[in-house]
Amino acid sequence: MWLTHSMTIGGGPTKLGLLIAFIFSCLCGQALGQYVDDPSAIQNVTYTYDNYVLSGSLMLKSFPNNMNAYIHYQTYDGVWNMTGTTITVHWQWENADNTYGNWSFEGTVGPYGISKFYVYLMLVESGATYTDDNNGQYYVVANGAPRSTANCDGYDVVHTSVSKGVTQLGLALNGKGCALYSPDVKYLTVSITPYSKDLVRIKIADAANKRWQIPASVVPEGTPSSHSIQTKDYAVSYTNSPFTFKVSRPSGEVLFDTSVSGLPSLIFEEEFLEISSVLPDNANIYGLGDMTDSFRRSPDTTLQTFWNLDQGTTRLNNGYGSHPVYFELRDGMVHGVFLRNSNGMDVALVPGQITYRVIGGVLDFYVFTGPTPAAALDQYTSIIGKPAFVPLWTLGFHQCRYGGTWVSTQGIKDTVDSLQQAGMYLDTVWADINYMNEYQDFTLGSSFSDWNDYVATLHQEHLHHVPIVDPGIPNVSGYGPYQDGKSSDVFLKWPNGTLFLGQVWPGVTVYADWFHPQSGTWWTNQIKKFHQIDSFDGLWIDMNEASNFVTPPGYEPAYRINNNGAWGVQGLNSRTLSTNLTHYSGISEYNVHNLFGHYEAIHTHSALSALNPGQRTFILTRSSFAGTGHYSQKWNGDNAATWDDLYLSIPQIMSNQLFGIPMVGSDICGFNGDTTEELCNRWAQLGAFYPFSRHHHSLGYEDSFFFLWESVTESALKAYTIRYTLLPYLYGLMQQASQTGNAVLRPLWWDNAMDTKTYGIDTQFTLGDGLLVTPVLTEGANTVTGYFPDGIWYDWYTGSAETTSAGYKTLDANLTHINVHVKGGIILPAQYPAKTTYATVRNPYYLIAALDKSGTASGSLYVDDGISVNPKSSQLAFNLSGNTLSIGLSWYGFRIGPKLDQVQILGYASGRAPTTIYLNGRRVAGAKVALSQNVLKITGLTIDLNNKSVLQWK
Ligand code: NOJ
Repeated sequence: MWLTHSMTIGGGPTKLGLLIAFIFSCLCGQALGQYVDDPSAIQNVTYTYDNYVLSGSLMLKSFPNNMNAYIHYQTYDGVWNMTGTTITVHWQWENADNTYGNWSFEGTVGPYGISKFYVYLMLVESGATYTDDNNGQYYVVANGAPRSTANCDGYDVVHTSVSKGVTQLGLALNGKGCALYSPDVKYLTVSITPYSKDLVRIKIADAANKRWQIPASVVPEGTPSSHSIQTKDYAVSYTNSPFTFKVSRPSGEVLFDTSVSGLPSLIFEEEFLEISSVLPDNANIYGLGDMTDSFRRSPDTTLQTFWNLDQGTTRLNNGYGSHPVYFELRDGMVHGVFLRNSNGMDVALVPGQITYRVIGGVLDFYVFTGPTPAAALDQYTSIIGKPAFVPLWTLGFHQCRYGGTWVSTQGIKDTVDSLQQAGMYLDTVWADINYMNEYQDFTLGSSFSDWNDYVATLHQEHLHHVPIVDPGIPNVSGYGPYQDGKSSDVFLKWPNGTLFLGQVWPGVTVYADWFHPQSGTWWTNQIKKFHQIDSFDGLWIDMNEASNFVTPPGYEPAYRINNNGAWGVQGLNSRTLSTNLTHYSGISEYNVHNLFGHYEAIHTHSALSALNPGQRTFILTRSSFAGTGHYSQKWNGDNAATWDDLYLSIPQIMSNQLFGIPMVGSDICGFNGDTTEELCNRWAQLGAFYPFSRHHHSLGYEDSFFFLWESVTESALKAYTIRYTLLPYLYGLMQQASQTGNAVLRPLWWDNAMDTKTYGIDTQFTLGDGLLVTPVLTEGANTVTGYFPDGIWYDWYTGSAETTSAGYKTLDANLTHINVHVKGGIILPAQYPAKTTYATVRNPYYLIAALDKSGTASGSLYVDDGISVNPKSSQLAFNLSGNTLSIGLSWYGFRIGPKLDQVQILGYASGRAPTTIYLNGRRVAGAKVALSQNVLKITGLTIDLNNKSVLQWK
């Protein structure tokens, strides 16, 4: 974290930026200028180091007024020099001349202490940086690094057995053990279970089998194949003394190898588990979230903490959810590693290695071998559960608002009216906590007494409604949900049996214990009752990390994970439930903190399924764990109206695809802060391509509805016209995701894994494999440079071909324009767009066939009733080659109402428009043909899509 302060030196209004940080490598700059070469610039450095706090003072020579000074401290913990906390410096100039000022500094360092820190000076003048190595100095901190792994000799294999393909090992602690933070567990068992030809589970647990393990009912553990697996795409080997294990491809390529030179082979203490694996240099690692970071994680300096936290989108912090899984892309092949563990942990990527430091549970690894990205995700979701298939209406545009004018039915209605008057696309109207009476779940406030009538009106217009519910239940006597919960005893308790009280929007609250066998029934009952006064179509479950506005007392283990980027400072109990709490049957909150939102989503899913049997549910959760996507959809929480957050929404959405949550989005135009017209323009354009597309904004800031600016209205209309046109395509991608787990919003490498240039790109993405989106993410830009993988890419708007060989291209992108390209070789199913998804799916279909280099294209269309869990459905296959489009039925079960009206062929090369159109050999009388710029449009077709057919043009 970087800190800058402003102050005035001498007489002039000079900004002094003082920045203290840990650096990860030598900052070897050029020493320039008279002052910075002065070895006496920093003097009298004194320091003390006590209980992880480094403090001290120094004398710093003052410097010219037009310069900024920086001081860096480097810390090094003996294993990796990544400690990440901020040391704050307090300064004081003695006078305005070129003399010295007294400075003091203090801060808390990481769990391994520090062995040295480095002070030097860097001056910045008019954008030029002068780094002075001459005056820099290391200070070695005696006893600063308490970690000594000298006794960490790992474990020896003392027993081996193999039965039905499963290898069981008994391990015994070697030597004295390390006891770095807690006593060593002396005996372990290892089971190596092949699950399928491309998935293997390696679980290291305590031999006594007493430690916390996630129940399979909460997070599935997959099922090993019942057949013997003949050929495997992996081999697992291990060493006996000390025990290490390795997973390789048949080619010998090592995917995971816990014998990392210079590191302990395995530490397995009561409350501290450490294991590392070898990575190639400059590894391409994705995942490890929730995260607020580039999509490709830095292989050298990533520290990802897993401890669900209500914390906005602070870069590099732990986030709202925990998904301890990574996907590695190596030479075009993907594999992944999932650690099925719900405890708090730090996972670090440093050159050549990944290290896990976990504060409980067991080491339960799944390694899956891909090798394609889609296969890898299919394998991962075969363990944690396939993503839920969303109702079709949820793919429309969602409008939300916290506060502002949305504090009464009328206020919300006014916005909806304005959206509709501006011609906006709209499907769902949300309600934030303002609808409640005193922020109490399942109630309607007095300004919402007519709410349900309004919801009925929305339904008549085929719009939908989703209200928020929070897990904090006010402990108000006479309040039904509280009374009911108390009688069924479902609230979380301290170990002595008294109710835990936290504080959230309604004031003092209790929280459900989702492990309690009655909690699901209690929750379902509340939801059912609520539905009688608010006929909602889905539910929004917020604040479920769980958030608490106060920090309760609670247990802190000796190893401090880097919670909220504040190692050791912000403990596990910070602004959440106490780690001391006891769930049903004695389960401790310490172990299950990261499962709160996930388990709430499971119960909410059951409740909504009970409310509307046989129908798909829609649940928007903020917190998540591995497997949440099977029950719920997600948004990325409280972002800010900044350009950085506009960008970050893309890597966040991409990484959630890897977590099995394809239906995900970020608050469009930014949640916190006042947006600007330009930013909201760019966000409306980008947000139209989020799988979950919702505009939301926080209280206390100016409204940012699209219709407030003419330009934003234009941007939104243009971009959402594409979204609604491609509704059948998007819906088909969602259906596929629910079957195979495949990503909906994809990084460019997903379908171009051999193209290494795509590995780092997260400013563009594709929807499915057919549509490339290149948004503007920087202020003031009216062009955008994007990468085009090999192939032909057709401009969405003009149909002209952009490129045939891979490379970068700069495109025009005026304020209301977002660049969208269709991939040659793909047929996109489309419908004429209407302002709701309900009306759109009733409009005629059309096909956009983008020809590849050999003049062919193919695609598919999936259709069902849009809502049933087990719907009757039809799937059509389109293949275009030469002058023939064949429409086949992959399966048929659902009658498709609208006809196919039009076929557009992009890249039509013949130069001459056809004169006659034939359907199944018969001339189509009403067909019209238009050719312009290699785009051939055949309209007036009225093809019945319930039969297979062949369309030809001559
Ligand atoms: C926090 C959520 O992240 C935000 O979206 C919501 O508006 C507020 N809580 C108020 O409910």
